[in-house]
Amino acid sequence: MPAVYLQNVIFSYERNAPLLQIDELLIDEGERVFLYGPSGSGKTTLLGLVAGVLHANKGEVRVLGKDLTRLSSSARDRHRGAEMGYIFQSFNLIPYLSVRENIALSCHVHAKRMKRITASTLDGEILRIASRLDLDGFLNKPVTKLSTGQQQRVAIARAVIGAPRLVIADEPTSSLDRDRQESFLRLLIEVCNEARSTLIFVSHDSSLMSRFERHISVSEINQVVSC
Ligand SMILES: Nc1ncnc2c1ncn2[C@@H]1O[C@H](COP(=O)(O)OP(=O)(O)OP(=O)(O)O)[C@@H](O)[C@H]1O
Ligand SMILES: [Mg+2]
Repeated sequence: MPAVYLQNVIFSYERNAPLLQIDELLIDEGERVFLYGPSGSGKTTLLGLVAGVLHANKGEVRVLGKDLTRLSSSARDRHRGAEMGYIFQSFNLIPYLSVRENIALSCHVHAKRMKRITASTLDGEILRIASRLDLDGFLNKPVTKLSTGQQQRVAIARAVIGAPRLVIADEPTSSLDRDRQESFLRLLIEVCNEARSTLIFVSHDSSLMSRFERHISVSEINQVVSC
């Protein structure tokens, strides 16, 4: 079963102005995909459709076995929370929670993710992932007191805890220098491999492409020609 399957999808933010028209897109379970395209070409929009934050006007958006176009918005939210980890460019960590609490959140909210942890307790799992990402010394700190690089690692930990089947990262490295980009990506790929998660990674930076087995250009799969 593919992790992501889109067929005859049309999406528009505004009436009568389609932004994306995708005849077919198939991403297999376990694939590592680099998604690229110019600014404004629809990368974040496509991720929004796959994550079920946005709703297609037409077509089939099947993600991890469920056709999102047939689900209510609350069912899509549940599916996303239980099965997907999302890393934002700006991390979107919850500022009034500690590192530990930020990492734990999705497991508290989604029983499926709690069930999939490999350690015997949630605290044990947080420690396992945190030490993997060199965060074990910071678990009780508020996230606002961390450096940008440390916050990025919390964003990875939060996205991958409870072994989500799909991890989506939308330009998480764009504000980093070359060395930090490399180490961020290495860690992300390692933890996704450990959990056997499918990874969709968006970046403008083509030098990161070689770390991915598959490259998808949004402009090539999109039938809507932008002016
Ligand atoms: N909420 C919205 N309402 C209306 N139009 C939007 C909305 N969000 C994005 N757009 C438009 O949709 C197009 C694609 O935007 P999107 O954010 O998907 O591009 P992107 O490829 O992710 O760009 P970037 O590389 O700059 O992040 C743009 O022309 C943008 O102006
Ligand atoms: Mg974007």
